[in-house]
Amino acid sequence: MHIVVCKDYEEMSRRAAEIVAEQIKKRPDGLISFPGGDTPLGMVHVFADMVNEGKVDISRTHYVSLDEWVGLSNEDEGSCGLFNQQNLLSRLQHPFAGTHIINGAAEDIESERVALNDYISQYGPLDVSVLGIGMNGHLGFNENGVDFDLDAHIIPLSETTLKVMTKYFGEKFHPTQGISQGIRQIMAAKTVILIANGAHKAEILKKAVHGPVTNEVPASVLQNHPNCYVVADEAAAALL
Ligand code: GLP
Repeated sequence: MHIVVCKDYEEMSRRAAEIVAEQIKKRPDGLISFPGGDTPLGMVHVFADMVNEGKVDISRTHYVSLDEWVGLSNEDEGSCGLFNQQNLLSRLQHPFAGTHIINGAAEDIESERVALNDYISQYGPLDVSVLGIGMNGHLGFNENGVDFDLDAHIIPLSETTLKVMTKYFGEKFHPTQGISQGIRQIMAAKTVILIANGAHKAEILKKAVHGPVTNEVPASVLQNHPNCYVVADEAAAALL
């Protein structure tokens, strides 16, 4: 793992966006993926600015979202789809070659799962996978105890996620499941970038980076990835 400690959130965001851009320059026709949540907001904005300023060309690059709350559509407040739409796609003055944003409100969620696998098979494997880390060590919705051999799947939300999720949409929605790229697809990415900020992530980041590799802390699997960057601010990296 390449550990990159940044002085603050802004530097973490800029550094992560730069690594993504470097990879796209090396392989302009690759597939990339960003997470939703609070952590990637700054990175996604920096990345969109880089595209708009002509610093990186995404005209041949495909984009796929990482995960979604089952039951939430791209228009629902707090959904990963809306995050992608508002903070990335609608900001881009030059679009990706193609995008696939998971629809958690699809009537047939199993078909949505298959469609996610199909998109990754068609344009992948992933060139760059950017990930956040949940308070329980989850990656996307690869919750504690997940099977590391899974591709895209639908999974019950863990106790921790059920507690944390109200920060995204209050009491408006009560999802019980997530749909997510699987660990197999994440581990097949040529470059993985795990981003984390804030003192509240320090303990779980330490477990992910220095603890045993176990599906009880899904992010620990990244210790086995040949090209994984951990880009964290000083507060999140405090115990590394
Ligand atoms: C969420 C999402 C993940 C995200 C993680 C951390 O529940 N399923 O994709 O990376 O938890 O979120 P945050 O960045 O808001 O801390």
